[in-house]
Amino acid sequence: MDQLKTLLAAASDRIQSAPDLEALRDVENELLGRKSLIAESRRSLGSLPSEERPIVGAQLNEAHERLSVLIEHRRVELERIAQDSLLLGDRVDITLPARELGRGWHHLVTQTLDEVADIFVSLGYGVVTGPEVDTAWHNFDALNTPPTHPSRLESDTMYIDYGDPDDELLLRTQTSTMQVRYMEQNDPPVYIVAPGRCYRTDTLDATHSPVFHQIEGLAVDENVTMADLKGTLAYFMREFLGPERKIRLLPHFFPFTEPSAEMHVSCFSCDGSGCRVCSRSGWIELLGCGVVDPHVLEAVGYDSSKYSGFAFGVGAERLAMVRHGIHHIRHFFENDLRVLRQFT
Ligand code: DAH
Repeated sequence: MDQLKTLLAAASDRIQSAPDLEALRDVENELLGRKSLIAESRRSLGSLPSEERPIVGAQLNEAHERLSVLIEHRRVELERIAQDSLLLGDRVDITLPARELGRGWHHLVTQTLDEVADIFVSLGYGVVTGPEVDTAWHNFDALNTPPTHPSRLESDTMYIDYGDPDDELLLRTQTSTMQVRYMEQNDPPVYIVAPGRCYRTDTLDATHSPVFHQIEGLAVDENVTMADLKGTLAYFMREFLGPERKIRLLPHFFPFTEPSAEMHVSCFSCDGSGCRVCSRSGWIELLGCGVVDPHVLEAVGYDSSKYSGFAFGVGAERLAMVRHGIHHIRHFFENDLRVLRQFT
């Protein structure tokens, strides 16, 4: 009983000073476990005289009960402390400024194609798109390009199926395929632009890439002439590059137009006086165009004695390079955000 008193006197302090749940479990084991004074005393109750047994037994029970209650209190307390420190460690400071989420934007090529399309939409043109894998017929034959034309060789054109002239599949080399595809499906009058991706077996240099984008224009109606072409392109250039740029048309050759022309704009860098950008000529070649060759109209079943048209095709990267002074086409494909971010 003396030992029990001493034990009880010290127990409260020991329980209270257990620093964490594990230490508390050790203290509990020591005070109430199988080898504790209370457990051992209970086991030896039998050796006491029978009149003392209930008294000592009751004291042991009371001591056990008191200690259990103290331990339970401390356990609840320690659990709360543990929980608090967990929450504190996880605390979110809602007063911190939010991290800025990067917002996306259209790639400069897409912006350019959209902007060109918008200019023509404002003139009443429709916008059409079509497949990048196409037949040699759409890409060449219907566009009056003879079987022997050098651009049809594998050194210029990427084929999916090559060899059988009736069944050749290729990656289109020009959006001019859309002239044919649209006229096959629609009767005149036609006023369309067709933006899209094109492919050629070109080696990458400052102005050429095996993958690039064009936007094609086609107008077919009664009495369409070269003058309409020139007026339309002049309007387009004024809208796209501003009124300071002059344009000129130089005779050229394309299989699908007759006459054909190359359109030049006065150099954005030197304003026509001659510099490195324009190879001292004062002009930059921008696009190909012409009056639609009657063979093309006939290939799609149009009456070329009644209808005439003009067409043009312009490179999107080229347009953007001229407008923004970008000196290498690779900037469009490398996806370096330091470059692209300048065009948000
Ligand atoms: N398809 C030509 C090319 O990729 C560009 C072109 C020239 C398109 C004259 C036309 C055109 O529609 O009439 O080089």
